Amino acid sequence: MALWGGRFHKDMDDMVKKFNASIGFDQRMYQEDICGSIAHVKMLAKQAIVTDEEAQKIIEGLEGIRKDIEDGKISFTADDEDIHMAVESRLIERIGETGKKLHTARSRNDQCQVDGRLYLKEQIREIVSELIHLEEVILSKADQYKDSITVGFTHIQHAQPITAGFIFMAYFQMFKRDIERLLDTYERMDLCPLGACALAGTTFPTDRHYTAELLGFRAPTENAMDSVSDRDYALEFLSDASISMMHLSRWAEEFVWWNSSEFSYIAIDDSYCTGSSIMPQKKNPDMAELIRGKCGRVYGDLMQLLTTMKGTPLAYNKDFQEDKEGLYDAVDTWKACVAIFANMLEKTELRTDMIEKQLHKGFLNATDIAEHLAQEGIPFREAHNIVGRMVKLCEDGNCDFSDLTDEQLQAIDSRVTRDALGDISIPACVNARKSFGGTAPSEVARQVETGKNWLEEIQKEQ
Ligand code: ARG
Repeated sequence: MALWGGRFHKDMDDMVKKFNASIGFDQRMYQEDICGSIAHVKMLAKQAIVTDEEAQKIIEGLEGIRKDIEDGKISFTADDEDIHMAVESRLIERIGETGKKLHTARSRNDQCQVDGRLYLKEQIREIVSELIHLEEVILSKADQYKDSITVGFTHIQHAQPITAGFIFMAYFQMFKRDIERLLDTYERMDLCPLGACALAGTTFPTDRHYTAELLGFRAPTENAMDSVSDRDYALEFLSDASISMMHLSRWAEEFVWWNSSEFSYIAIDDSYCTGSSIMPQKKNPDMAELIRGKCGRVYGDLMQLLTTMKGTPLAYNKDFQEDKEGLYDAVDTWKACVAIFANMLEKTELRTDMIEKQLHKGFLNATDIAEHLAQEGIPFREAHNIVGRMVKLCEDGNCDFSDLTDEQLQAIDSRVTRDALGDISIPACVNARKSFGGTAPSEVARQVETGKNWLEEIQKEQ
């Protein structure tokens, strides 16, 4: 019979036991569960709810259980129900009657929330450190390629020439926001629900501030009912994860087409690619595709929990047990994707020779010419129209701007000559885009510098 079986005449049906159990997955939080129990019993002793000797005995028992789990001496079954019952029942087996006092002034409803928050706080720290590593790799690549000119696209059409370092720094900004979002989530979830009990607090003279402090939380949660029914922290995390996976997925998509035979802008290291079982020549960007694909499952994890929570009345409902597997899945998936992406990026080189061949296609310098004409006094809207007609002429004659003669230009507009176009070479165009946040190498160098300073600050705080 379960520890809660006093009022029951019968044991659970075997199918029900399996269906009801969360031990299969929440055993992942055994460390957190034991830490929570140790803090709880220390508080019970401080408040004279149990004696110091009883507390000591319980703590030693819990530590013994932790060691047994670590040594693989304990195997959990559906009879354990969940990690809280698994630890408590083993404690009673181990130390006898005193073990029965551990569950004074708490409930599994607050306990599972302590475990969940402690677990997620640690995972956030680990994911932040993976994201910081990714940012370091991005910065070093941006620095390496700050002068390398490549094609900037809109609508996957040649748009303007840019530096490759500039692209890397665009992604740097996305992951910077991901880190900031995670730290913000961490800050808000850093409150301890322990002692909220089932839903309404307790008649025992507990000290929830003390347990919060022992467990490294900023403070206890404010309202017991909210404490046991709130899953916002998990939802915030899943939404942070979804946004960040979307960033990874977008870059992964770029990797896939930069790597395609049609583009060949990059060479991904062999160790981060796979081959084909039938086509001997294939070298596939599977890591990028997998990361792109795994974004979908993390969105799924978010949607699942949002849907689970929708319409649940206060306070605890068993629906909430469904908060775990998706969360664990998102943690594992996101963490692995960031680490793999960082390594893949580190091991990828630009094929500047292939990129160079594309720079003279698609009139990449058209906007620069229009801007130059405007700076010479022609209103921008007119300059835009003049360059538009130059494009038409080139397309009809299958040539480039630099092939147009003075006569052809003057026929478009009497104010335009070859000299009036300015330096229309691709490097000159890129170098001139020095506006704050622009693509010029000098600007990218500034962005790299600012990025480095921000990263150093964040690392100091970790
Ligand atoms: N395994 C449960 C969960 O994860 C623990 C809380 C159980 N509480 C209850 N009243 N049945 O949600």
